[in-house]
Amino acid sequence: MKTVAILYGGKSGEHEVSLRSGGSVYSHLDRSLYKPILIAVDHDGVWYLQQNPGFENDKKTLTLIKEEDSIVSVVPGFGLYCKNNKLEINLVFPVLHGTFGEDGTLQGLLEIAGVSYAGAGVLGSAIGMDKALAKQIWIQSGLPVVPFIVVRDRSISVTVDPLEQAVKDFGFPLFVKPANAGSSVGITKAGSLEELKSGVKNGFRYDTKLLIEPAIEGREIECSVIGNRKPVSFLPGEIISDDFYDYDSKYIHPESVRLSVPADLSENEEIKIREIAEKAFIAAGVEGFARVDFFLEKETGKIMINEINTLPGFTEISMFAKLCDVSGLSYKNMLTEIIQLAEERHHQRNKLVFKKE
Ligand SMILES: Nc1ncnc2c1ncn2[C@@H]1O[C@H](COP(=O)(O)OP(=O)(O)O)[C@@H](O)[C@H]1O
Ligand SMILES: [Mg+2]
Repeated sequence: MKTVAILYGGKSGEHEVSLRSGGSVYSHLDRSLYKPILIAVDHDGVWYLQQNPGFENDKKTLTLIKEEDSIVSVVPGFGLYCKNNKLEINLVFPVLHGTFGEDGTLQGLLEIAGVSYAGAGVLGSAIGMDKALAKQIWIQSGLPVVPFIVVRDRSISVTVDPLEQAVKDFGFPLFVKPANAGSSVGITKAGSLEELKSGVKNGFRYDTKLLIEPAIEGREIECSVIGNRKPVSFLPGEIISDDFYDYDSKYIHPESVRLSVPADLSENEEIKIREIAEKAFIAAGVEGFARVDFFLEKETGKIMINEINTLPGFTEISMFAKLCDVSGLSYKNMLTEIIQLAEERHHQRNKLVFKKE
């Protein structure tokens, strides 16, 4: 029996979502193979071992109980500790969305501690988190992406005004988004120069690097991918919402959004999307699992990558899991596969030589 530490909650704006994702992992982990323990991360980033794993009234959301004597510390080279006792775990399963969870920082911490973990590594997580960098890499790999212009914080001088450039190249409406954010935080759809300027100003509250993109009129298609060096994609799904898929429609009024699983696509579209998703996964250096999100432009039928999420919504009713399920991989077996992939990757890595022998 292996012990898996589920790490959930976190400092990011997606803390609440993570309480649910963590709850799903905890409830569905194959108990004949794994013993789960829970480590909750509070809004300040402090880790607490949950002595008595519990759920909120809805039975889906994990609780987060803070007790002084249950604080978990990470010791470089040694692993995880609680009150001077080493936590005997085989693997950490991070279910932390967004900053400090999905962006490579947590992965770096676990590497330094010598702890195996599920999902993408340091580089894949960091690339996946930066929407501009990810797209630059995909362009280099010959993959189709939503066009974009990067706007840096004003401290960095630019020769051409990127706002003017975006209006000239793409026309209105435009999307402004922080390079490193999630859950549609800090995103504006701008129909005029005035809205663009205020969108940029707002975006800079969340990041020092923004993207301006043309608003794509099209369908939003998402594709789950699992694997290490030879990833496998699943049947794509579609997000059908009235307006853009913003924070409210994701979490506050989920009824305004419908998930169509699998998406109604032609065979050719499906094959192409899956192929691009697998290539995008490899090119971004991602391992374990990820969800690759696309636009399928209405007028032209063009397929364009929007972004990759290395820790997508992870409940059993989230898009990621539904897409695996519709292709025949149950949530429970999907978790097992992800854990096995992590073990395989860490095993490979441990064989590497880090110093001259
Ligand atoms: N260029 C674009 N054209 C049309 N809609 C967009 C564009 N960029 C983002 N959106 C809309 O905003 C949502 C959130 O943007 P996204 O880039 O996926 O960031 P997040 O990381 O917050 O999910 C998308 O799901 C989509 O509905
Ligand atoms: Mg998105």
